[in-house]
Amino acid sequence: MACETNTLLIFPLLFVAACYMQQCVYGKSQMPCLFIFGDSLSDSGNNNNLVTLSKVNYKPYGIDFPTGPTGRFSNGLTSIDILAQLLGFEDFIPPFANTMGSNILKGVNYASGSAGIRNETGKHLGADIDLGFQLQNHKTIIARFAIMLGGAQQASQYLNECLYYVNIGSNDYINNYFLPQFYSTSRVYSPNQYAQDLIGRLSQSIKILHNAGARKMVIVGPGPIGCTPNAIATHGSCIQEQNAAALIFSSKLKSLVDRLNRKFTGSKFIFRNSTTDFYASIKRFRVSNAACCRLVLNSLCALQQTPCENRNEYMFWDGFHPTSAANKLTALRSYNSSNPDFVYPMNVQHLIQS
Ligand SMILES: *[C@@H]1O[C@H](CO)[C@@H](O)[C@H](O)[C@H]1NC(C)=O
Ligand SMILES: *[C@@H]1O[C@H](CO)[C@@H](O)[C@H](O)[C@H]1NC(C)=O
Ligand SMILES: *[C@@H]1O[C@H](CO)[C@@H](O)[C@H](O)[C@H]1NC(C)=O
Repeated sequence: MACETNTLLIFPLLFVAACYMQQCVYGKSQMPCLFIFGDSLSDSGNNNNLVTLSKVNYKPYGIDFPTGPTGRFSNGLTSIDILAQLLGFEDFIPPFANTMGSNILKGVNYASGSAGIRNETGKHLGADIDLGFQLQNHKTIIARFAIMLGGAQQASQYLNECLYYVNIGSNDYINNYFLPQFYSTSRVYSPNQYAQDLIGRLSQSIKILHNAGARKMVIVGPGPIGCTPNAIATHGSCIQEQNAAALIFSSKLKSLVDRLNRKFTGSKFIFRNSTTDFYASIKRFRVSNAACCRLVLNSLCALQQTPCENRNEYMFWDGFHPTSAANKLTALRSYNSSNPDFVYPMNVQHLIQS
């Protein structure tokens, strides 16, 4: 019962610690629903049926996932999978591309590998579902909610209680700005202007979500995109120019979140800094500059190749994406940031303590 009343509070994330102590983390989630917008860090299968090089529904992806390859860009769970578990969701949030057999009232995952805030981002790899399209898909789901809940008003009230997770923007750098052979943006914009352009677009998207009932939102800034195994393999060390560009975007994103909190006083927007997470995690892994699997073009894992065995010692699974061990740290840190009294479960304490 205590858990149920939590959903009435402005931002239930802040109150789950008490609930955790009462062990109701299992079986009852802290909010009724979770919607996920983003890129390959969160994708759970939306690209599987698209014509694109950016899909991973093959082995060795998913080697540590209960059902094998699913389209997740990791060996096991993504950080939002783990965060959802911590929040008490019993099932994974279904990908929009396949909600068959799932209760969409618990939320939907719209994230798509190679997708960006700008609609041309990543398209040299093939099709993807850019942020604008993800919002369109959310509209489709909202229409179904109205039917399921008996009207637009009821749907809107229900949508107010959901958590919205937005983690997008890295591809606008990795798969756009820093690929001048495919995209002209770096000739048109300075890093500062480009970040401003992305923030303008993202701000519009967030306002669309707010109009569609979103009141609790976690907005995740990019990590050091110049320190992926891909960047290190092609450049010899971290590409500081890319890290610097991502930091400009991240700092403007933080300001945007501050502005949104001032403007929409009945809503709560939380900024997460992935760069902080990266440097907190890197110390925990023996290998942080190379991938666990054998790569094609320093990017994705080669088909059917046997990956490293000691996956908990690797920060990166492939050329761009963290192992599920690294995702676990990110999720736990994210969870703890809203519940400082949170006690890490026994099975991850060895990852947390140095
Ligand atoms: C991409 O976005 C621009 C506006 O920034 C719009 O004019 C264009 O039609 C969009 N293209 C597609 C394919 O959606
Ligand atoms: C994010 O974290 C990095 C590393 O700790 C820091 O340099 C940067 O200023 C932070 N960005 C924001 C917007 O807080
Ligand atoms: C959780 O976060 C708080 C505040 O940042 C920190 O003091 C505490 O040590 C963290 N708890 C654990 C278990 O890491």
